[in-house]
This record gives sequence, C-alpha cells and structure tokens, in this order.
Amino acid sequence: MNKTNDFVIDEGKYVVSLIRGDGIGYEIIDSVLKIFDYIKVPIKFEEVFAGLDCYNKFGTPLPKETLESIKRNKVALKGPTTTPKGSGFKSVNVAIRKYLDLFANVRPSKTLPNISSKYNNLNLIVIRENIEDTYPAVEYYQTPDVVQTLRITSRQGSYMINKFAFELAKKLQRKRITCVHKANIHKFSDGMFLNTFYEISKDYPDFIVDDIIVDNLCMQLVKNPEVFDVLVLPNIFGDIVSDLCAGLVGSLGLAYSANIGLKYAVFEAVHGSAPDIANKNIANPTAIILASTYMLKYLNLNSYAYIIEQALFKNFENGIFTKDLNGNYSTTEFTDHLIKNIKNIDKHAFIDNDKDYNKDNNKQSKVNIENIPFLKDSKNWELIGVDIFIEWNDTEKLPNIPLEFSNLKLNFISNRATKIYPEKISDITLVNWYRCRYLANNNIDFDTIKELMDNFVKKGIRISQIELLYKEGNQNMFSEE
Ligand code: NAI
Repeated sequence: MNKTNDFVIDEGKYVVSLIRGDGIGYEIIDSVLKIFDYIKVPIKFEEVFAGLDCYNKFGTPLPKETLESIKRNKVALKGPTTTPKGSGFKSVNVAIRKYLDLFANVRPSKTLPNISSKYNNLNLIVIRENIEDTYPAVEYYQTPDVVQTLRITSRQGSYMINKFAFELAKKLQRKRITCVHKANIHKFSDGMFLNTFYEISKDYPDFIVDDIIVDNLCMQLVKNPEVFDVLVLPNIFGDIVSDLCAGLVGSLGLAYSANIGLKYAVFEAVHGSAPDIANKNIANPTAIILASTYMLKYLNLNSYAYIIEQALFKNFENGIFTKDLNGNYSTTEFTDHLIKNIKNIDKHAFIDNDKDYNKDNNKQSKVNIENIPFLKDSKNWELIGVDIFIEWNDTEKLPNIPLEFSNLKLNFISNRATKIYPEKISDITLVNWYRCRYLANNNIDFDTIKELMDNFVKKGIRISQIELLYKEGNQNMFSEE
C-alpha cells in the first residue's frame, strides 16, 4: 500500500471508505457498485458503518473505526443516514463534518439533460459553510419554557469557507461570487462572514463580487436564478438555499454534494434515507451516482466520471426514469440501462473533445487554503458589565433586583430581547426568561459580578445564564438592545 497525491493506493487502486447508511442507502449504493464494477473503476472500497442500522447493531451511530477509515483513506462515499427527530442520537452527518473538519459543502445545481425543470440553463454552485452557525447545536433549556441555540461564527471559519469559495470558483473559471447573509440583523455573526468575504475578494480582482440578503436571494432565485453563478453562505442559510436550488433543477433525488476539508472529502447525495420507499427497489440512484462521479473527479479519475455521466444522461434521453420523475423503472432496471449505455459510449473520444466538460469538471475540488488568520487574544478587552439571565414567572411585577451594585448600574431589563425596564413601551407577550443588563462606566473586576450574582441567588432568583460584557477601546463587544 502506498500514498500518491495524498490518496491511498493498493494494488493500483484507490482505497475509498464506503458507508451504505440506511433506508434507501443500500439500494442506491448497490447501483454505484454495479456501475463501478462494470467499467472497472480502479477503486477498492473499504466498507464501514454509520447511521441508524449501525446504531441498532453496534450501539453507536458512528463507530471510531469509521472515522479512522476515512482519516486513513482521505476519501469516502456515503449513503444517507437517518437522524431521529427531537431526541435520540445527533446527526451522523454533522458529526462526520465536525470530526474531519469538512468545512466546505459544495453542491452543484446544474440543469440535467432531458429532466424537466422550471429553468433550463442553470449552472449554479452553492458553497455552504459546514461546521459553524447553529449546526454545532449547542442548545440549552434556559427555563422550562425557553430554549436557546447558539449561533457560532469565527474569523477562521469565515476565512476558510470564503477563501475556499474563491479558490474553487477560480479553478472552475466562474465569473461571479455572491456572498449570502443576514448582516442587517445579525450584525456581528453575518457581519463577520460578509466582511471576511470582501476582505478576501481583494485578492481576486477578476471576479464580479457582490452580496445579497438571504430572503432577497430566495425571491431572486425563484424569479431569475440564471443570474447567479457561485453562492457562498453560512451553514443554515446554505442548507435551505441549496435545497431550493435542488428544486430549481428538478428534484432532490438528483442533487449531490461534496463535503470537503483540507485533508478529507466525503461525497454523498443531498437527499435523506427516504424510509417511506426503502426496500422497494424504486429509489432514484441518480444523486448518489453523480456524487460518485464527483468523487472520481476529485481523485482525478475524470474519464470514468465522464463515461458514467454520459451513460446516465442517455438514460434520461431514452426516457428511463424512476418513479419520483414519473417513470416506471425500478432502481435496478435504471442501473442496468445505464450500464447498457456505457457499452455504446466511445470511450476514447471524450475529454479532449469536450471543452465544456474540461472547463467545469476536469478539476479537482481540492484547494489549498493558506494564511488562515492567526488567533487574536483579548488582552485589551475591559470588563464593563454583565447580562444576567434569570427565570421569573410573575408577569405582573419585575424581579426585586438592585438598581445599583458597587459601580454597576441596572441599564435595562428585557424580555425576548425587548426592553421592558426602565420603560415598558412594548406590548410583547412576556415569557419567563429575563435579561438584566448591568453596566459600569469603567473597568470592573469579576468579584463584583460574583457578588451581584450572590445577591440574586439569596433572593431566590434563579440565574440561567450570564454573559460578561467587554469593550476594546471605544468598541463594545456586545450588541445593544
Ligand atoms: P428524504 O430526503 O429522505 O425524503 C424526502 C422525500 O423525498 C421522501 O418522500 C422520499 O421518498 C423522497 N426521496 C428522497 N430521496 C429519494 C430518491 N433517491 N429517490 C426517490 N425518492 C426520494 O428526507 P426526510 O424524509 O426528511 O429524511 C429521512 C431521514 O433522512 C431523516 O432521518 C433525515 O434526518 C435523514 N437525512 C439524511 C441525510 C444524509 O444522510 N445526508 C440528508 C437528509 C436527511
């Protein structure tokens, strides 16, 4: 076994980790294996497990061996995995992305030949940040009635995804990059994402560079999607917008994606495990087939990718569709027809003759991200106050808390981020989670805050959370109400 170009090669074949997942995962992965086997793709799959069936069998949805396998092989093909809703284990997909630092999710949204869709000339790339935002799912019950999910954005994370987007767009000879955000509301988090985007854009003067607020983008995508080229988005917006784009080009059953990091890459279909149609041999294998061809391109096995894609498109040309696209071919029949098409493809006359193919596909998505920003420290920050979040169940009166404490003054009390003290001008329906902001004119020490908290506790007021308030120079490191 040796390593070439960072990939693991065994007896002339790339070793790739394979996760079938659950639900329709078995059927659609079988389809890929049959096709790869037929055209003798030089890949040796190392099967590992993840998902609900894995959990039922091994007591964990993501065994250590699975991650180790991907770390060893650098590349994986993954079928869909079920995530229980509301309770139960956390998403395997999110865990894989986090453990392997697969910070970029790339979803090409291209109109496929002979697939009817509302728009005919779409060729969008959605690049979604894959680690941060609300996805770490850091969540707390603040009171029995109020829960909180943290939204996390870092300078490093924003840099890596935006830099990746520019580098990938350059490789694919794209022209325009649009940063999608909600920085008008989330001035800190989306503001950081957006500022980083524009900062990086200075190194790429050949691109048309712009930004758009996510709600406006959704409207524009539905009305006029052809104007967009490459979109880069924070995680949660990327999740939603990429499904919207999948709908624009025909169906979720066709959409595929790559999760890419600096070291590893995992390729998968966008759709889930579709338990409603599992084991019926009716699932559409197109998305996972396209994910597998994307993987082949990543491994620089472009000719195999090309042959499989042409054979797939031939199926569509010949009206071979699965049920989700109003056809009546089963998963296995669809696959067998695709394999038949392969026999008729001129395997020698492809890539060189197809400039478009070369332009868009004959490029690895592997990009180098250099100069990740160093970690800044907060040594110049001054502690000037505290937000104390409390549970308070009497909607008729405010909690009996000090108006002043040492050099701290009660600045406001708010409920659902709406001020209700010193003035209550809002008619907001009160819930039992209040924020009490105390501010000082100068630097304070942490003991003062501890004593203030003691004061609350002694009065029987339950503190659910505190946030320390800092400033650096004249800049407050917290949002105003
Ligand atoms: P889903 O994508 O599995 O299914 C949505 C609808 O699309 C269903 O009606 C299904 O039958 C249909 N569908 C999906 N893929 C299809 C295909 N290849 N061919 C034909 N029809 C197809 O979404 P749902 O039902 O919300 O999620 C089911 C499970 O999958 C959940 O546990 C969810 O967490 C998980 N999931 C996993 C993903 C992954 O592993 N990458 C991605 C999305 C969801």
